[in-house]
Amino acid sequence: MLYFYPVASSSPIGIFDSGVGGLTVARAIKDLLPKESIIYFGDTLHLPYGEKSPESIRRYSSLIADFLVGKGCKLIVIACNSASSLAYESTRSILPETIELLNVIDPMVELALSRFQGQNVGIIGTRATIKSGIYQKRLQEHLNINAVATPLLAPMIEEGFIHDDVSMSVAKAYLGKEVVKDWNAMILGCTHYPIIQRDFEVLFGGKTEVLSSSIPVARECLRRLESRNLLNEAGKTVSDLFFVSDYTESFENLASKFFGDTIHLEEARIT
Ligand code: DGL
Repeated sequence: MLYFYPVASSSPIGIFDSGVGGLTVARAIKDLLPKESIIYFGDTLHLPYGEKSPESIRRYSSLIADFLVGKGCKLIVIACNSASSLAYESTRSILPETIELLNVIDPMVELALSRFQGQNVGIIGTRATIKSGIYQKRLQEHLNINAVATPLLAPMIEEGFIHDDVSMSVAKAYLGKEVVKDWNAMILGCTHYPIIQRDFEVLFGGKTEVLSSSIPVARECLRRLESRNLLNEAGKTVSDLFFVSDYTESFENLASKFFGDTIHLEEARIT
């Protein structure tokens, strides 16, 4: 661990995920903070994190955090629910204190607690996230929680089944049960899922609010940088960079879809 690690307002924001899902968070950060440079890392060599052991997720997250430290990041966002739920503490422990570390769960928990006290709230996510019980532990005292693992959704979205018969049928198969009818809100506990947010809204017929962490995470990013006086007022000095641990052309195409803009992926091995 580096004990002396100076950060500057011109330093980039690091964002990582198992693959392309975290680009939904990167998009929200870019929209809110257009003057900031971002360095994105998608661990395509090791995805899906949702099916990995906690130990592996912690190991991969540490390697990526090291990589982003090497790129001079001032703040790192774990833009993956699976890694946020299992590897936040271990990642925090290897980072220099001067680097801010954000996860995608805290801002969502805060939002749910402020708006849905005593109400019925569903959570969907990968097996790793749901099994970690993190949302349940942090919310169940104040809200009626119902957590459902939906492991087929992330690969389905990556295969391009978005706003079509397949995505609607899979969403219905997971959520068509009785209990879902009473949900006041549903947390999208995976950064892939905002891509099919509209499908859920159609499925619920407007009766259940669908909550994505992208914007709350971007706002938290703004708050943290502001409080440390690290906002890049001067504008971008470094171009945005997008790395993956295993490059394929199909990931590059997919990444552009998730980010909503054409991006070029570079390969960087972390093991
Ligand atoms: N985007 C990741 C998350 O938010 C899930 C994808 C995966 O299983 O790797 O948990």
